[in-house]
Amino acid sequence: MLNHRLIDPPREPEKFVRTAVKFLQKYGKNKKVFCALSGGVDSSCVYLLLKEARVDALPVFIDHGLMRIIRGKEEREYLKKLFPELIIVDIRKKFLPKIFGEGDAENKRKLFKNAYSDTISSVIKEEKCDLLADGTILPDIEESFGVKISDLKETMSLEEEINLKEKNIQGFVKSQHNVEIEYEVEATIQPVASLNKYEIRKILEYLKMPPELVYRKAFPGPALSARIIGPVTNENLAFEKKVHDIVESNVDDYYIEKYSTPMIINEKGEQEPFQAFAAIGEDILNRKVTGIVNGKRTYELPLCVKGKWDYSKLTDLASQLKGYSRLLYELETDKKGVYDVIIRSVNSKDARTATITNLPFELIEKLKILLKEIPETKNIYFDITPKPPATIEYV
Ligand code: XMP
Repeated sequence: MLNHRLIDPPREPEKFVRTAVKFLQKYGKNKKVFCALSGGVDSSCVYLLLKEARVDALPVFIDHGLMRIIRGKEEREYLKKLFPELIIVDIRKKFLPKIFGEGDAENKRKLFKNAYSDTISSVIKEEKCDLLADGTILPDIEESFGVKISDLKETMSLEEEINLKEKNIQGFVKSQHNVEIEYEVEATIQPVASLNKYEIRKILEYLKMPPELVYRKAFPGPALSARIIGPVTNENLAFEKKVHDIVESNVDDYYIEKYSTPMIINEKGEQEPFQAFAAIGEDILNRKVTGIVNGKRTYELPLCVKGKWDYSKLTDLASQLKGYSRLLYELETDKKGVYDVIIRSVNSKDARTATITNLPFELIEKLKILLKEIPETKNIYFDITPKPPATIEYV
């Protein structure tokens, strides 16, 4: 299998689209192209580019059951409304029992990678697709291969890539669910491989997509399993979906009210907020979670602080954290309830580093009150750790 990536295209949206259309037509002419949509901006952009290029594309959404709910709506409903021709492949019954027992971060990732590749492979076979279009973006490539995009050629074989990765193993950060998988297709086509998320948003805006899509917050491949600390269960998954929606939707509302848009570019050039979500777990203070030190993922316990809220002092303290992966600011403790909830909201340019969103404390208090209304909520924390030394997600 070959991988065709559009390397170093012009960044201005109109010119980018023209270049991407040519690239897709060069490889996709008279071919049937499988295109997995996740609900996020990257894969939606790829699908729209395929449509612009008039390539015969098959849009597929794999429903594994761990997607977020936004404003009470499941991701698949939202996507189906946007792209009515979307084919939904429901693997919930098969996939969920597999992930339920797994607590280890990197193993959770691998389960997703396998589920995606198995499902994609069977649809590719059934539908006789020749190519696979892929929404891999710049940080995914550089973190997975440990190289710069400029070290890649437009067309590379999987063997060439594996050799390259082995040579650069010190640059490896984490395995991605959608990179380095062999499918039964002639090739993958990756039109957005050189772009970061903000550049993708600009393309979506140019292609007249609605703001809910253009400013959709990044969501990880391993989905809510990246935000459930320890093994996923039916119960904690249902709870996570509820609390996640509370945090993401209320942070969105605050920005829409203040700036008329759910996401701004702040004075540091970051997307603010880049991601806003809730993570959950039982007895969180005694659970190891991921951090990142000198570009390598670590696995350490969080540290908890309480007292007066002071954004600058607390985030400053968190940035110097050593031996722990997170600094959690205690908002509420309770003997009742089952799950601890961590509120996390970060600003970022490209997800490789992130700072903490300076949310007004009244909004943090409001989130706390809304979260407390759910009977299973136990303790509530606000994660004040930038990346590094924390990662954005919890796996
Ligand atoms: P971390 O947790 O590494 O996340 O700071 C950086 C960005 O990547 C997303 N993320 C993933 N995306 N597969 C993905 O496609 C993954 O395995 C994965 N893990 C994290 C995360 O949401 C953030 O935007």
